[in-house]
Amino acid sequence: MVGIRSFGALALLSFASAAVSSSTAGIEALVARRLPHLAHKFHFELSSPCAQNASCFDSYTVSSVGDKIKVSAETLSGLNRGLYAYLTEIAGGDIYWTGSYLDVDCAPPVDQKLTGSSVVKWRYYFNTVTFSYTAAFWHWEDWELQLDWLALRGVNLPLAWVGFEKTLIDTYRWAGLTDAQISTFLSGPAFQAWNRFGNIQGSWNGTLPMSWVNDQFILGKKIVDRMVELGMTPVMPAFAGFVPRAFPEVDNSPNLVNSSDWSGFPTILTNDTLLEPQDAFFTKMQQYFVTKQKEDFGNVSSIYTIDQFNELTPASGNTTYLATVSNSTIESLKAADPNAVWMMQGWLFFSASTFWTAERIQAFLGGVSNNEDMLILDLFSEVQPQWQRTQSYFGKNWIWCFLHDYGGNMGLYGSMQNETVVPMEALAANPNMVGMGVTMEGQEGNEVTYDLFLDQAWSKAPIDTASYVQKWVQRRYSGKAPQSVFQAWDILRTAVYSNENANVSVVPKSILGLAPAISGLFRFGAGNHHPTVPSYDPQVLIGPWRLLVQAAFAHPHLLKIETFHHDLTDVTRQVVANAFIPAYVNLISTWNQTGATSASIRKAGQKLTDILTTLDKVLYTSPDFLLSRWISKAVAWAKGSHEIKTYYEYNARNQITLWGPEGQINDYASKDWAGLVGQYYKERWELFVKYLATTTPETYNATVFGDTLLQFEQAWNGQRWSGPACTKGNLLHIIETDPLLQSLLA
Ligand SMILES: *[C@@H]1O[C@H](CO)[C@@H](O)[C@H](O)[C@H]1NC(C)=O
Ligand SMILES: *[C@@H]1O[C@H](CO)[C@@H](O)[C@H](O)[C@H]1NC(C)=O
Ligand SMILES: *[C@@H]1O[C@H](CO)[C@@H](O)[C@H](O)[C@H]1NC(C)=O
Ligand SMILES: *[C@@H]1O[C@H](CO)[C@@H](O)[C@H](O)[C@H]1NC(C)=O
Ligand SMILES: *[C@@H]1O[C@H](CO)[C@@H](O)[C@H](O)[C@H]1NC(C)=O
Ligand SMILES: *[C@@H]1O[C@H](CO)[C@@H](O)[C@H](O)[C@H]1NC(C)=O
Ligand SMILES: *[C@@H]1O[C@H](CO)[C@@H](O)[C@H](O)[C@H]1NC(C)=O
Ligand SMILES: *[C@@H]1O[C@H](CO)[C@@H](O)[C@H](O)[C@H]1NC(C)=O
Ligand SMILES: *[C@@H]1O[C@H](CO)[C@@H](O)[C@H](O)[C@H]1NC(C)=O
Ligand SMILES: *[C@@H]1O[C@H](CO)[C@@H](O)[C@H](O)[C@H]1NC(C)=O
Ligand SMILES: *[C@@H]1O[C@H](CO)[C@@H](O)[C@H](O)[C@H]1NC(C)=O
Repeated sequence: MVGIRSFGALALLSFASAAVSSSTAGIEALVARRLPHLAHKFHFELSSPCAQNASCFDSYTVSSVGDKIKVSAETLSGLNRGLYAYLTEIAGGDIYWTGSYLDVDCAPPVDQKLTGSSVVKWRYYFNTVTFSYTAAFWHWEDWELQLDWLALRGVNLPLAWVGFEKTLIDTYRWAGLTDAQISTFLSGPAFQAWNRFGNIQGSWNGTLPMSWVNDQFILGKKIVDRMVELGMTPVMPAFAGFVPRAFPEVDNSPNLVNSSDWSGFPTILTNDTLLEPQDAFFTKMQQYFVTKQKEDFGNVSSIYTIDQFNELTPASGNTTYLATVSNSTIESLKAADPNAVWMMQGWLFFSASTFWTAERIQAFLGGVSNNEDMLILDLFSEVQPQWQRTQSYFGKNWIWCFLHDYGGNMGLYGSMQNETVVPMEALAANPNMVGMGVTMEGQEGNEVTYDLFLDQAWSKAPIDTASYVQKWVQRRYSGKAPQSVFQAWDILRTAVYSNENANVSVVPKSILGLAPAISGLFRFGAGNHHPTVPSYDPQVLIGPWRLLVQAAFAHPHLLKIETFHHDLTDVTRQVVANAFIPAYVNLISTWNQTGATSASIRKAGQKLTDILTTLDKVLYTSPDFLLSRWISKAVAWAKGSHEIKTYYEYNARNQITLWGPEGQINDYASKDWAGLVGQYYKERWELFVKYLATTTPETYNATVFGDTLLQFEQAWNGQRWSGPACTKGNLLHIIETDPLLQSLLA
């Protein structure tokens, strides 16, 4: 069967061989997009490009020449970073996720030349799952902002998954599978990351429409073009080996194995079939995939991402087997692209550390002969680095990555020491640490920690966080913040963003977003990934919050600055979420007292409802905290089809709530969002209080309550949003009049 397939027309294609662009048009277009009134002020000069020279890192020089600002560098990424250095250090501007674009009025001259240089070859960005947790429904405008943000910060190695399914489907079709067979494999729009990882297959509330695949393909090509134009090397997908269940009908190879199951999903949705890389047909599919991808996306990169065992157990732990798998994988890539470099997320070495002994890791990595042919992401370096126990990945090139956030959790959190001092120590100790990367699962908040880390990649010495945060506040609020706001941020820096408590080492989530239960809601980090205990004393947050609130009252212009409005909403959100903890503790202890009455339980429960009502109102004031924004972006992709809208909305709702048809990973990606708090979490806690009021510690039955809950949750998953899709209310007015907020401020 295999023999009759040929590459047909594809083999005859030739490609433009330009990899990274060498024109300054990309950065000029960025200036025209973000700073149109200053477009004539900049002169970008690309001098003697140093590509192909391993010891040459990106660097820049900025100076005034006549009335122009001249930025020169040897690479486009150097130019981008040079522009950023000028904007942030001299012109006082910046660009954020939170809706505030560069708002620099004029371009002051440069008195003293600005120079800078990256300390690492690669600045990497994205986790495979960020494409689902944060970017699942992004449109081109969202991507444009994100890519400008990345480029300016000097990122030069972003992951580029968007549009992958089109190439995959083409490859499956070429292999002889029918569209019906293929469609049973593909997962819904909000779950593609785990389908790409081979964790799940299929979709649980309808079928992925081809219109989604085609629209993402168009979007993906724009993204890759823009990345290249901005001097970034996209990390492209490749064929990992996961195939539809029906694959034996086209190739009944002895090298087909079922992967292990993942996160308690039923077999039909997991245990993905893997065509092992040592199969000759795997290589053919890889060649087809890579060739087709180059035809469609351009010959823009030779760095490919492949993960075969992310949260999956390999079929055998035999070291010969593991070396064969990796050797065959790299051989298949080399057959498709002689320059291929295989990038993999190193998460498995931490998450399955019992399986992945140093000996097995050595065998697996040893299957690839050249150290430069691999790029390992040490995925969680700021908390659980694996490079020590693997002797620096036994010589393979690797990137120190900052993970920070699971599932788009939203608590305030940072560990600035571990973002600055710790990576610099690692760099000094490891010549094969070739980059610094950000591999957050979700990009939701705590923006200051991302800025700090990406700036650290351009500073030899660990950054001094005290002065850093002051300068950051200065430009974040356009130079218009009073002293008290700086004070507030300095407290946040030391209390919230300088965590050294290893128990809570990632972004915590609010317990209000967890399924109500009488116990088990308080937990620490690392082991079960999302702590719910803040890393600081909640009382400590009141001080900076009060300072921000007072500043907002005293200086009404502040709230007109989007970033300030965002930050005040966010800190208020956290204060209210923290207030939920003692209210919850009080509810449980009231219920647990002998002689508790249903009236006393309801009264204690009312406090929870009140807190959630306040929180929902607060969140509604900011566009960055709306459930309706997530949903409307999803539904907009359906372009009018009612059935597809319903399917996309189910996907959007399901990921952030049940995460699976029956709550397989319930609340993993919970969010403090207006609409979700008011409609979903509040309803769940009210059901809980109602149930508590009718039970005692002797009669309480978690199964009975769980059934009630699931019924509500599933019904909510199937609903369509009918409320407003925009902000409402005035944050200051709410703070002034809400009794709960007033009592917390007092
Ligand atoms: C892709 O570009 C590289 C150089 O960047 C070149 O060596 C290679 O032949 C090109 N591949 C194809 C398929 O054109
Ligand atoms: C590589 O770049 C470094 C730094 O710019 C430079 O010193 C060196 O001469 C270059 N080597 C080659 C072979 O071009
Ligand atoms: C994989 O699982 C499916 C579904 O249970 C089963 O039909 C198939 O035989 C299994 N394949 C292999 C190679 O074990
Ligand atoms: C799914 O994986 C589990 C191991 O994680 C295994 O026990 C089970 O047999 C697999 N099922 C199929 C159908 O392959
Ligand atoms: C591992 O697999 C190889 C090749 O199949 C075999 O020769 C060897 O005996 C196996 N080792 C162990 C410990 O099972
Ligand atoms: C695959 O393994 C063989 C045998 O060890 C080795 O010679 C070859 O270099 C490996 N291939 C790659 C691309 O590393
Ligand atoms: C910071 O990094 C060190 C060294 O890797 C580690 O021991 C510590 O637990 C980390 N701290 C936090 C809060 O993650
Ligand atoms: C960390 O967790 C351990 C075990 O749960 C606990 O004993 C210890 O008090 C915790 N430390 C902090 C600082 O919370
Ligand atoms: C209820 O109180 C008893 C006795 O103090 C205690 O052992 C138990 O853990 C409490 N239950 C809950 C759910 O708090
Ligand atoms: C809890 O309720 C379930 C379902 O009604 C029942 O099967 C189970 O026996 C109950 N558990 C206890 C401890 O009563
Ligand atoms: C999708 O889920 C909703 C809510 O759980 C359910 O009502 C509906 O029947 C499901 N639709 C499909 C096609 O599975």
